[in-house]
Amino acid sequence: MKSLIKKLVESVGPSGYESRVREVVRKEVEDYADEIQVDAMGNLIVKKGVKKEGGLRVMLSAHIDEIGVMVTHVDKNGFARFATIGGVRPHTCYGSRVRFLNGTVGMIGGEKLDNMNQVHAIEAMFIDVGATSPEDCPVKIGDVAAFDRPFEDLGNRLISKAMDNRVCVAVLIETLKQVQESPHELYFVFSTQEEVGLRGATTAAYAIDPDIGIASDVTMTGDTPRGVTMDVALGKGPAIKVKDGGMIADPKVVTAMVKAAEKHNIPYQMEILLGGTTDAKAMQISRAGMPAGCVSVPTRYVHTPSEMVDLTDVENAVKLLLALISEPINLA
Ligand code: CO
Ligand code: ZN
Repeated sequence: MKSLIKKLVESVGPSGYESRVREVVRKEVEDYADEIQVDAMGNLIVKKGVKKEGGLRVMLSAHIDEIGVMVTHVDKNGFARFATIGGVRPHTCYGSRVRFLNGTVGMIGGEKLDNMNQVHAIEAMFIDVGATSPEDCPVKIGDVAAFDRPFEDLGNRLISKAMDNRVCVAVLIETLKQVQESPHELYFVFSTQEEVGLRGATTAAYAIDPDIGIASDVTMTGDTPRGVTMDVALGKGPAIKVKDGGMIADPKVVTAMVKAAEKHNIPYQMEILLGGTTDAKAMQISRAGMPAGCVSVPTRYVHTPSEMVDLTDVENAVKLLLALISEPINLA
């Protein structure tokens, strides 16, 4: 599991430019899939099994894109100004390194601050790739980069950029590999462009038209010094989403998840996330709507270049999804 997570997080794939991550996923899943398809949005859709007695058409979704930056302008001295892709916060940028799709590495510098305690606005920062002019600058307008940090294994806790959401991509891959008997027709969707507005899951949900939608994504925690008030902590199990900034999970789906966890003695937490949302929102309001929910992996420092997860939560998220999809799901 650790080596799979490392492979996924160290791939570069900002929203709209997910092809490398998609190829890593494809290699992992192709031996376990009944059908594989890549749609116009770049979603990788893996079909597994057929609907049997008591079964549903189930869409599981985990996004493969990550936050990043895009070059907007290269000045006469070779410094590149940039726009953000997804929820990049200014205080995580200054001094960070970024890696472009063409392999170029740059660091983010900034204009002089009047007060050293200030944070640079995005507009006051630039990417320095060691160039001296637009001519010798290896990146140009429109080039995209992701934050660059290696995967760190602390034992049970893991740190990397792009844990959001590659850790849940690993969860879905493991779930696909391990699922044995299921009454359901399963669609594992490795979705694109979540960080810029759930765009991949929106079209995938429309095309698949499932009976139920289950996302897997990271959620925040309330277990750090003076952190957000939130009853989710690392190491206490996957979180069953009740509500976030974009959706109210279907209570029937929440109940089905809780029952599956209790039946199999899987630790779990109830999640109410005040901001942010997931592919579950896109699924819930697709077409005429569908019951939807989300199994979250608790993650500290979300949307920084060093996001932390607990390995047992990741393993238990796989167990919870397996428990849920291996039996009929009661939506009555
Ligand atoms: Co995110
Ligand atoms: Zn995410």
